[in-house]
Amino acid sequence: MSEQDHNPMAKSGVSRRNLLTVAAIAPALATLGATVASAQPVPPGGRVALVTGSSRGIGAATAKRLARDGYAVVVNCRVNRDLAAAVVAEIEAEGGRAIWEQADVAEAAEVARLFGAAESAFGGVDVVVSNAGVMPLASFADMSDEAFDHVMAVNVKGSFNVLREAARRVRDHGRIIALSSSITQLRSPTYGPYAASKAAQDIFVNVLAKELAGRMISVNALAPGLVNTTLFTDGKTPEQIAGFVQRTPHGRLAEPGDIADVIAGLCAEDGWWVSGQTIFANGGIV
Ligand SMILES: NC(=O)c1ccc[n+]([C@@H]2O[C@H](COP(=O)([O-])OP(=O)(O)OC[C@H]3O[C@@H](n4cnc5c(N)ncnc54)[C@H](OP(=O)(O)O)[C@@H]3O)[C@@H](O)[C@H]2O)c1
Repeated sequence: MSEQDHNPMAKSGVSRRNLLTVAAIAPALATLGATVASAQPVPPGGRVALVTGSSRGIGAATAKRLARDGYAVVVNCRVNRDLAAAVVAEIEAEGGRAIWEQADVAEAAEVARLFGAAESAFGGVDVVVSNAGVMPLASFADMSDEAFDHVMAVNVKGSFNVLREAARRVRDHGRIIALSSSITQLRSPTYGPYAASKAAQDIFVNVLAKELAGRMISVNALAPGLVNTTLFTDGKTPEQIAGFVQRTPHGRLAEPGDIADVIAGLCAEDGWWVSGQTIFANGGIV
């Protein structure tokens, strides 16, 4: 039996430890004339997380992890509806609440509809993970206009669409996280446009964190290293993958769950003071 089964507060997104921490420091803050303003209120319908690109990979692992942490979750796909439905089924089988919604993040109207679906189903949005992404790779000499435009449309404009909607709709005390990448530091050949699209996330979150000041919303970018998903493995030979693995300090790729765990940490109440940052979650490769 999990902690959530024992603890109804964990199910509603409020851990016993968080409450105890707040209770312990409240008198001291009151003496200073301060309020315990960072305590996350739990909305009547519970806290709600929306994860773009969560039919598979890091997004799916994040959706499942946040559901286990007590969030109602909105799962999103672009084409793989069956996979999105399977993520929802898995969450529901474990006693969680979730819906799935097809929406192309590159289309602003579809992103608005996605947030609308979250509000209709669960009453609001508290956590947004802008995770949907693509990674066409080619050298500068070989990259086509179409591939360049695609990575910018999904990773830059798409994430902008999601962050703009989040800025408008996330409830106070929320969390907004955009997926960056450690490739912004590694800068390997063939990764130019993709790395640039991920560097945009670092700027987006830093500016948005300031724009949302005063609402107790933290906004961060999470920059994984090499993660075992098709985004990383597709188009690479086993030998090439082994070559990458050799360069990792722990001798393995990250699993999507490793990244989901860090995202969950940023969503926790205790993490709220971390804002406007890019967090590198790469096992030390950079
Ligand atoms: N894997 C890595 O090594 C790594 C490292 C650093 C950063 N990242 C970042 O982490 C994020 C997730 O990567 P991943 O490895 O989990 O990728 P993945 O396994 O390829 O999954 C991509 C997800 O994004 C969705 N998606 C793609 N285009 C979309 C669009 N236009 N609108 C809505 N959803 C869309 C896909 O939906 P469908 O299933 O419907 O296609 C899928 O759910 C990306 O932003 C990536 O840049 C990954």
